Amino acid sequence: MEFSVKSGSPEKQRSACIVVGVFEPRRLSAIAEQLDEISEGYISNLLRRGDLEGKSGQMLLLHHVPNILSERVLLVGCGKERELDERQYRQIISKTISTLNETGSMEAVCFLSELHVKGRDTYWKVRQAIEATQDCLYSFNSLKTRKEEPRRPLRKIVFNVPTRRELPIGERAINHALAIAKGITTCKNVANMPPNICNPAYLAEQAQMLESNYNNVSTKIVNEKEMAELGMGSYLAVGRGSVNESLMSIIKYDGAGDDSKPLVLVGKGLTFDSGGISLKPGAGMDEMKYDMGGAAGVLGAMHALVELALPINVIGVLAGCENMPSSNAYRPGDILTTMSGQTVEVLNTDAEGRLVLCDALTYVERFDPELVIDVATLTGACVVALGAHATGLLSSHNPLAHELLNASEQSGDRAWRMPLWDDYQDQLESPFADFTNLGGKEAGTITAACFLSRFTKKYNWAHLDIAGTAWRSGKNKGSTGRPVSMLTQFLLNRSGAEQGE
Ligand code: BES
Ligand code: MN
Ligand code: ZN
Repeated sequence: MEFSVKSGSPEKQRSACIVVGVFEPRRLSAIAEQLDEISEGYISNLLRRGDLEGKSGQMLLLHHVPNILSERVLLVGCGKERELDERQYRQIISKTISTLNETGSMEAVCFLSELHVKGRDTYWKVRQAIEATQDCLYSFNSLKTRKEEPRRPLRKIVFNVPTRRELPIGERAINHALAIAKGITTCKNVANMPPNICNPAYLAEQAQMLESNYNNVSTKIVNEKEMAELGMGSYLAVGRGSVNESLMSIIKYDGAGDDSKPLVLVGKGLTFDSGGISLKPGAGMDEMKYDMGGAAGVLGAMHALVELALPINVIGVLAGCENMPSSNAYRPGDILTTMSGQTVEVLNTDAEGRLVLCDALTYVERFDPELVIDVATLTGACVVALGAHATGLLSSHNPLAHELLNASEQSGDRAWRMPLWDDYQDQLESPFADFTNLGGKEAGTITAACFLSRFTKKYNWAHLDIAGTAWRSGKNKGSTGRPVSMLTQFLLNRSGAEQGE
């Protein structure tokens, strides 16, 4: 897809399709008004006859509108003008893109980016429009032998901005959006890949691909032998039941050109989580291929970052592992010695994410990090608490928590903070080891984070539980690409990059 911005009047456009908004009830947007005038009331006539009410998401495709140079005009219902918010804007754009893609317009000039969205500027509107477009056009069909593709797909879209002065802002929004969309696509592609292909070695190959395609990137893969030497007894235990070797992939990006402390992202990379000896029930178990969603998110954010070439130092860690039952698998009752030296009594082999992450979190101490953010499909309890809409955020460092919440608000990739009070720590008490890997049935997301907090004392740390947000179930099953957008926004903010006006 090709994107550009332009500042022009609608009647001068010579395109396959021009896209304008109509508000409820039957009220033309300023741009639609202009088209109506040159077409001598053609559009307002249609509205009067009841062809389009203007409800959010309604579409009416017109051909050969009198005196209009473009082949088609797509009228898009935008709901009540004063109620147009961020969510609606994105939904309207998505519907528009699907319609264009299915109705033979290979190019379009879109004026929806000029609509007034409460509290949002041109930068935001253009960036969101492109992210929504790329999200809408994504499909994972590399493993289908017959691919269904539209005969005349949308190839080129121009977003109009109100004034020429805003063109550079629009250009910047395009650059940022394209980099983020690349990261999101990378995230989706690896996350959607089936677990017989996407194993820890596959994750490592994806990391190495970034190294070969970009400057200032180097990778290091830590294998099981090295993990043993490092004393990563907890991480190793989880992978022991699988024939696929555990591999921890480290992606180092030196963008600052100095020795400033790196920002570190750590992703849970369970390429399949069967539950191990504490085997999961069969229904929906296929979805546990997405248990590497944290690693996919970190990889995607690293991709966006290197594409943007931001002047900061960042390290991404993909904690690759597979949790399987076998006669060699770790069991409930086992006591593991973590890399930190602390011992853990395993009460459930399905609470494996924290056992992998805790050693990865100890490992990254060696980078003397400015901060560490881990990203994980960690708990079913997070899906119960927040559903599919918000990522769970837990942090022992208030400024970092606020920075992440800001980034999530800016990017529309939302997170919601949960408490990490010491009161919950007691739930991890063990009679035999320093603590257990299981916090009981109450506050599962918090006790999982409490477990991790015992390994993150040496730096500023935040945890993102993406169990509910990383993928969609059901008919539209697939990776969402979250939280690449939030993480990249966080990195953009950290790098001091200019964004809006
Ligand atoms: N990967 C799962 C968490 C999960 C479950 C994410 C469902 C998304 C959807 C994790 O490893 C797990 O199994 N967690 C257990 C923890 C429990 C045993 C304390 C859970 O949430 O049930
Ligand atoms: Mn599990
Ligand atoms: Zn898991």
